[in-house]
Amino acid sequence: ALVRDLEGVRVLVSAGGTREALDPVRYLGNRSSGKQGYAIARAAAQRGAQVTLVAGSVSGLADPSAVEVIRIRTAAELTTEMLKRAHEADVVVMAAAVADFRPVTVADAKIKKNDTGPAPIELTTNPDILRELVSARHDGALDAQTVIVGFAAETGDDHGGVLDHGRAKLARKGCDLLVVNAVGEGKAFGTDDNTGWILTADGQETALPLGPKTLMASRILDAVASVLGDERCS
Ligand code: C5P
Repeated sequence: ALVRDLEGVRVLVSAGGTREALDPVRYLGNRSSGKQGYAIARAAAQRGAQVTLVAGSVSGLADPSAVEVIRIRTAAELTTEMLKRAHEADVVVMAAAVADFRPVTVADAKIKKNDTGPAPIELTTNPDILRELVSARHDGALDAQTVIVGFAAETGDDHGGVLDHGRAKLARKGCDLLVVNAVGEGKAFGTDDNTGWILTADGQETALPLGPKTLMASRILDAVASVLGDERCS
């Protein structure tokens, strides 16, 4: 039988990729499938949580049952939704692949070919939503008990390299849990399997053996449940 250990816990999950418009028909995007975030949303609901899923571009995934689904396209829309909805969440999971940059302007009409070669595309930096959530908590805008989970897709020659990048990212982002994925040649993006580590702010490191994203989702929620349990005891 399923353990309903997240009964009543409000979980906000972002998933999928953002698309940054260039003109009415073109965008800059990424290959995120949304599978890992959807698996977390589905599993959390099965464990009794009240789940909101903020979804960007995903590859043909059905909405998980008993989950409120909000659609976004751009990083700016995702930022607005996450910062607004985090106030009503006990746990925030940033599984979305957010574009780091967006075009400075969105052309009103389709950008034309010209004789002088391709038109330059000027980019500007998107806000780092994960860091904004952490600073909102720091400033007291978010409840101090809100559990914040980030993801890190890292490439590296060996496990040590990937893990080192993950540790540095956890420190930089300031979240409670960081799920580190080893990505590259057929790993993680778009596939059904995933592998990596869960790092906690207090220095615990749990290896996640290669397995389905649904299993990874359960492990991540186990780690979340453990942080929530520690909060209750302290
Ligand atoms: O810095 P990097 O993109 O590797 O960090 C990945 C983590 O940060 C993910 O949890 C992702 O959802 C989040 N992120 C974000 N806003 C951005 C870029 C990444 O929240 N602009």
